[in-house]
Amino acid sequence: MKARDALREAEQRLAAAGVETPRVDAEWIVAHILGTTRSGVYARLDDDVELDGLVDRRAAREPLAYVLGEWGFRRLILKTDRRALVPRPETEILVERALALVHDVEQPRVLDIGVGSGAIALALKDERPDADVVGVDVSEDALSLARENAARLELEVELRRGDESAAAEGWDLVVSNPPYVDSLIGLQPELSFEPHVALLGEGFHERIGATAQARAIVLEVGDGQADDVGRALRAHSWNDVAITPDLAGVDRVVEGRR
Ligand SMILES: C[S@@+](CC[C@H](N)C(=O)[O-])C[C@H]1O[C@@H](n2cnc3c(N)ncnc32)[C@H](O)[C@@H]1O
Repeated sequence: MKARDALREAEQRLAAAGVETPRVDAEWIVAHILGTTRSGVYARLDDDVELDGLVDRRAAREPLAYVLGEWGFRRLILKTDRRALVPRPETEILVERALALVHDVEQPRVLDIGVGSGAIALALKDERPDADVVGVDVSEDALSLARENAARLELEVELRRGDESAAAEGWDLVVSNPPYVDSLIGLQPELSFEPHVALLGEGFHERIGATAQARAIVLEVGDGQADDVGRALRAHSWNDVAITPDLAGVDRVVEGRR
């Protein structure tokens, strides 16, 4: 079918399936098939395209990043699949704060707890090539995807199995976007495709704040969690505790220094 018809059909099916942004997602899928950008699709509306089940997957509410198999994060294009969480735009703000916290430290030693696809660890290495970055995760699946991303991007980071206890090893910066959702009930169906170990968790921020031996710490938090996490950091002798909102205005990133 022609790209113009594929766009229309995809948009209609995605809208019927309740996808929030059916036109944009249809453009992404057709662009991916054509090997062009979303705006590039409009120069190729008469090209033939085969939707190949991609619209079916998205209509079943599989995250767009899994359907496409890759996703942008900061300056990187990461491979994305069901082995690890889809990197979120709000996590780019965590990276921004992490970079600010070590801007005056030469060759900073940085630990990323719950490395997932590698998004944070690889973006930090990309933007601070002199940093020594270690990423740990309890999920072998996530680690295997992070290793693939590191190899594809030719970024040298150490990736190993580990948990929040690694924070005690002594670092310039400990960074984490830990699992912080208490239940998936009532949340978007897309979340059910992501690993539960990446989403569901309680008390990670407090445990990391209590354990970390570091000059600075920066944590991503869920909606409504920032004040409690800030208080917990102060209680564990972190100074200059600050909260940064994401682009939607939700308090999203909590940091502290020692
Ligand atoms: C919210 S995801 C974050 C993934 C990635 N850092 C990102 O921001 O896209 C949380 C990650 O923590 C990992 N995880 C869960 N429990 C953990 C633990 N106790 N120690 C280390 N990692 C853990 C999960 O496997 C998952 O990869």
